Amino acid sequence: MTPIRVMTIFGTRPEAIKMAPLVQELSRRPGIQSICCVTAQHREMLDAVLKIFHLQPDYDLNIMQPRQTLSTITTKCLLGMEEVLEQAKPDLVLVHGDTSTTFAGALAAFYRQIMVGHVEAGLRTWDKYSPFPEEMNRKLVGDIADLHFCPTPANRANLAREGITDGVFITGNTVIDALKTTVVKDYRFSTNLLNQLDYTNKKIILVTCHRRENYGQPMANIMTALRRIADAFPDTELVYPVHLSPVVREAAKTYLSGHPRIHLIDPLTADEMHNLMALAYLVMTDSGGLQEEAPALGRPVLVLRRETERPEAVAAGTVRIAGTEEDTIFHMAAELLTDEASYRAMAHAVNPYGDGAACRRIVDAIEWKFGLRADAPEEFHARNV
Ligand code: UD1
Ligand code: UDP
Repeated sequence: MTPIRVMTIFGTRPEAIKMAPLVQELSRRPGIQSICCVTAQHREMLDAVLKIFHLQPDYDLNIMQPRQTLSTITTKCLLGMEEVLEQAKPDLVLVHGDTSTTFAGALAAFYRQIMVGHVEAGLRTWDKYSPFPEEMNRKLVGDIADLHFCPTPANRANLAREGITDGVFITGNTVIDALKTTVVKDYRFSTNLLNQLDYTNKKIILVTCHRRENYGQPMANIMTALRRIADAFPDTELVYPVHLSPVVREAAKTYLSGHPRIHLIDPLTADEMHNLMALAYLVMTDSGGLQEEAPALGRPVLVLRRETERPEAVAAGTVRIAGTEEDTIFHMAAELLTDEASYRAMAHAVNPYGDGAACRRIVDAIEWKFGLRADAPEEFHARNV
């Protein structure tokens, strides 16, 4: 029998981390030919992930430009994908999440009437400008997709609200599959700084901040609050692996450089990041992925955004929304640094996003859809974890 040709398309660091275990699972199935296409919307940050997970793409559009705009990313992906799809002729295209690569990849497949599967489907804030442009990207991909792999039941309910009820599977989030392979006991980092930090006597605050809707005043507020925290609490060390975006790097340099306990470092590889998170006292971030990973590792998270499309860990008590106002961020962090009961109430491991079997369920669902398997996969239930 001819194998089903399944093409994964991704371009940024978080998509790569979350698609890597899926590409590996696709490659293990005899009935499937796995084809991997990267747009390289991110270059260095993508390559670092490909290396850690030993992935070799079949196609690489290599589109990244310094300070690229949403229109250039989208058009370059769309044009590049036209040619790749013509050559590779996949039966199914899989895209992930909500980036410009995700949207353009799905649209390119739709233009050729190729079936589209959306991994990490159904996340919503219901505010089209926050996160920007991600909320609109994932809505548009939801309309295009034929198969929707939702991490959680709440994600499925969001799709139902938009009238999308066919081809929907609850699988868990593949990020938990990835996390299970990267976090190890007694991990050694590649830098002296991270090996020599005093994880026992100091409170390590892991920071990331990169979202487009935080550019400008919100990012200035966030970073001013971070510096105030470092000044006010001598028992803290802030570690901030700074995203390669020039906008972010300029802001970090302006507001955070020159402080003895604020460590601005280059982006970490995924295994370093996950192991650092496991050792941190607190995570302060506007990242989507960190909101899923830190709760699984029992690390409290303050979200540096006005809202979240990931309410499950907020409900479980390990994540709080700190917003983008300096005073609120400072006071919420101060509470967790001084009130042990408040900290303990947040610092417990919960896994509302997955159990490590999301990729198996997604590929089982694909095999079922194409008639290679009699039954659809069982749904992910958080209580099974
Ligand atoms: C993108 C995604 C965002 C995701 C984020 C993850 C869109 C519109 N945004 O935002 O959803 O949360 O990735 O990190 O899809 N750069 C480098 N090297 C790299 C990566 C980036 O130099 O390896 C620089 C380039 O100057 C690039 C800029 O960062 O132009 C911004 O990258 P871009 O992908 O446009 O936006 P992100 O903020 O990374
Ligand atoms: N990450 C990483 N190195 C870093 C910062 C983040 O490997 O220096 C990982 C992080 O653990 C998570 C993913 O990248 O898996 C999140 O990516 P990012 O914050 O860039 O994007 P988002 O999740 O907000 O879309």
